[in-house]
Amino acid sequence: MKNKEIVKTRRNFLKTSGTAAIGSTVALNFLVPGTSSAMNNNTLKVGLIGCGGRGTGAANQALNADNNVILTAMADVFEERIVESLSNLKELHDDKVKVENKQKYAGFDAYQKVIDSDVDVIILATPPVFRPLQLEKAVAAGKHIFCEKPMAVDAPGIRRALEAAKKAKKKNLSLVSGFCWRFHSPKRETFGKILNGDIGEVHTIYNTYNTGELWSKPWQPEWSDMEKKMRNWLYYNWISGDHIVEQAIHSIDMGSWALNDRQPTSVTATGGRQVRTEDVFGNIFDHFAVVFDYDNGAKSFHFSRQQKNCSRSYAVEMLGSKGRCVVDVIRRQHEIFGENPWRYRGEGNDMYQQEHDDLFASIRNNKPIYDGDWMLQSNMMAIMGRMAAYSGQTITWEEAWNSDENLGPDPEDYSWELVYEGPPVAKPGITKFI
Ligand SMILES: NC(=O)c1ccc[n+]([C@@H]2O[C@H](COP(=O)([O-])OP(=O)(O)OC[C@H]3O[C@@H](n4cnc5c(N)ncnc54)[C@H](O)[C@@H]3O)[C@@H](O)[C@H]2O)c1
Repeated sequence: MKNKEIVKTRRNFLKTSGTAAIGSTVALNFLVPGTSSAMNNNTLKVGLIGCGGRGTGAANQALNADNNVILTAMADVFEERIVESLSNLKELHDDKVKVENKQKYAGFDAYQKVIDSDVDVIILATPPVFRPLQLEKAVAAGKHIFCEKPMAVDAPGIRRALEAAKKAKKKNLSLVSGFCWRFHSPKRETFGKILNGDIGEVHTIYNTYNTGELWSKPWQPEWSDMEKKMRNWLYYNWISGDHIVEQAIHSIDMGSWALNDRQPTSVTATGGRQVRTEDVFGNIFDHFAVVFDYDNGAKSFHFSRQQKNCSRSYAVEMLGSKGRCVVDVIRRQHEIFGENPWRYRGEGNDMYQQEHDDLFASIRNNKPIYDGDWMLQSNMMAIMGRMAAYSGQTITWEEAWNSDENLGPDPEDYSWELVYEGPPVAKPGITKFI
């Protein structure tokens, strides 16, 4: 979703989403008395970890989601990101932004300081490699969590995140995923119909995330090796997971949703780095083509690319025994053809706002939301697609799940002095699946 061609500027984005939450705030004022949570009347304090574009947007939405919520702590590896994010948020919510100087934390250990502060809700919005560690620590400290996608970049990270997610469930903490399409009302209605059998048994899925090139920040002579990589984290698979995991995962997730989150049995894929070959683009691919196989004979095909001057598409097409369904993000199409024809005709909600409306309502109502299992399964599917494309091998779910490949150092060992080249650009048939 970082495509500069389709995303509004951050300022505009903040302004638009700043006006979208009135409905939810009103709803929370009329919570039934006696919904038993001790939290019901308390001021909810939010801590933001990762003060970039998405983290700032999510903090804005959290502040919109409830009358009695304030932002009290912020962390980022770069101090200037905190300053910029704070100034944007203050423009929108001067009365709700209460971050004292001592609650602004910079550096690689800053996240822990936000977690150790007295916040109730944590927003996790750093680059993905840090998510399993930060999720684990936030759950250990008993915080409710908004967890951006992706939740991990490799299988050990997924397993670690799942352990943390299960603990969140046991502790009755809300864990809401950043797979935003699942919070979009037209998609909720459409996928509801698919799961209700309106196109019969779904046997084939085709989904795409074909986009142009994304942003990159020109290397400055004074930057250390690690600073170059942290500022351009998208292009290092050990930080981002590669674009299939970092971005195209949204479409893979919708494909999984259509099959009621059935687990695939195996994956075969191809991919490469054809156009975006310069050093500044790190070690990631610029295109993938993947097919997931299922035990009931269903197949799900995924295509993604980040190449400029090519056609764009973010869509999921589902074929079933009684019809066909098209969900096309660019055309805003949600349509069923066949025995039960239907088309979504409404305006649709602000899905980013909905994520936080649901999260805060769940806290107020003491009805925790647990997105852990499906979000990590979708994340694992994107990772196994990458594994198959990198290695050129067909890989089973069990093999992928049990993989011990860590793409990079333990996130706790990151520092500005770290020098890590990362794996070389993968070559199918030569790069080993580990
Ligand atoms: N759901 C969506 O539609 C959507 C859209 C955009 C981004 N995202 C996801 O949100 C996450 C952030 O993306 P973004 O676009 O905001 O990127 P960004 O680069 O704008 O922001 C990330 C911020 O995290 C900071 N950071 C890096 N490592 C950190 C650490 N260890 N501790 C604290 N802060 C750290 C960076 O300095 C940066 O300010 C990514 O996982 C991305 O995939 C989701």
